[in-house]
Amino acid sequence: MRSLSTLLIALTLASPLAAQQPKLAATPPMGWNSWNWFAGKVTDKDIRQAADLLVSSGMKDAGYVYVNIDDTWEGKRDANGVLHTNDKFPDMKALADYVHSKGLKLGIYSSPGPFTCAHFEGSYGHEQQDADLYASWGIDYLKYDLCGFREIQNKEAPDDIPKQYAMMRAAYEKMHQAILKTGRPMIYSLCQYGWDEVWQWGPEVGANLWRTTGDINPSFDRMAYIGREQAGLGKYAAPGHWNDPDMLEVGNGKLNLDENRTHMGMWAMLASPLLAGNNLSELTPEVTAVLTNKEVIAIDQDPLGKQAERIYAEGPVEIWARPLADGSRAIDVINFGESETSLRGVHLHLKEAGVGSGWKAHDIWGNKDLGPIKDDYHFTLKRHSSLLLHLTK
Ligand code: GAL
Repeated sequence: MRSLSTLLIALTLASPLAAQQPKLAATPPMGWNSWNWFAGKVTDKDIRQAADLLVSSGMKDAGYVYVNIDDTWEGKRDANGVLHTNDKFPDMKALADYVHSKGLKLGIYSSPGPFTCAHFEGSYGHEQQDADLYASWGIDYLKYDLCGFREIQNKEAPDDIPKQYAMMRAAYEKMHQAILKTGRPMIYSLCQYGWDEVWQWGPEVGANLWRTTGDINPSFDRMAYIGREQAGLGKYAAPGHWNDPDMLEVGNGKLNLDENRTHMGMWAMLASPLLAGNNLSELTPEVTAVLTNKEVIAIDQDPLGKQAERIYAEGPVEIWARPLADGSRAIDVINFGESETSLRGVHLHLKEAGVGSGWKAHDIWGNKDLGPIKDDYHFTLKRHSSLLLHLTK
């Protein structure tokens, strides 16, 4: 008879490798991406500096581990079709080694089309070659942006939208298969602006996240518009694959403290990937505090992975709620409006949020315990501010 330990070893060897590896994107990916701040100007030096600053600012410890190079790193293909980097990125393997040496991961960007949004080389016709190249560099994350593929769709299926959509899915599936073939785990991020209800089929083409809308920009109105557009999408998010309302603008533009908090809090409620997009070399203590707030990040990263839904809306005031793995709840009351609102008369809708009587509330941004909470809790919300509550039995 085989001993228990032999049996255990045999069982371990027999189990598929995948079962032994942690699930990719079991919680929404966190990190930093170059686009929102550097756009087309990003260089190797900026990426190294971003990696250094993620560590020194405490953001890495707070969970931000992916350092993602967006568009404009690509050079030309050689006679064998092998893609080279451009002058801004002299040695991608060395850059990946540097980022990895800091305990961080490196992400990259491409398009299923012949060219990217910024008109650099895309992966069309070279999918496996590119995936192999990324794997050889040690890439951990790929954002795959439709852009140039639209030309192919229009050429091959003019005015035939269903056919164009089928082509789009096939193109995303193709790169998924190419990544799998490399054997290297890479987060797969779809960027096609939410077309064809991508949340319905994203998981089937291996997506760990998919953009649900067009581009964000550092204005409160655009952030609020995108955030509110997420209503109804909660059921499509789960450990392994997430709705992506685009990268964070916290710390960018003229967003004030209330606006940065509302943006960050809402993205956390939405179980969104948290990819900071600000200039890390100009991090203020105020912005660092917003980005690294432990309780807010814990909501985003909650292992249950249940994205918030809107449970109440009246004019500019909305209430969003989500259940958390330990049975507690998070509620976000947001004033999207231009003036201060007295919430006298607006109830918290605790029952809809699954909160029973006598539950205690903690005001996260205010950093204070409110004690047992009642549905008719009275408070005022300044313009563009929010009340983010953690509720426990
Ligand atoms: C857009 C995309 C942006 C950024 C940009 C790069 O299509 O939505 O997030 O990646 O392309 O050119």
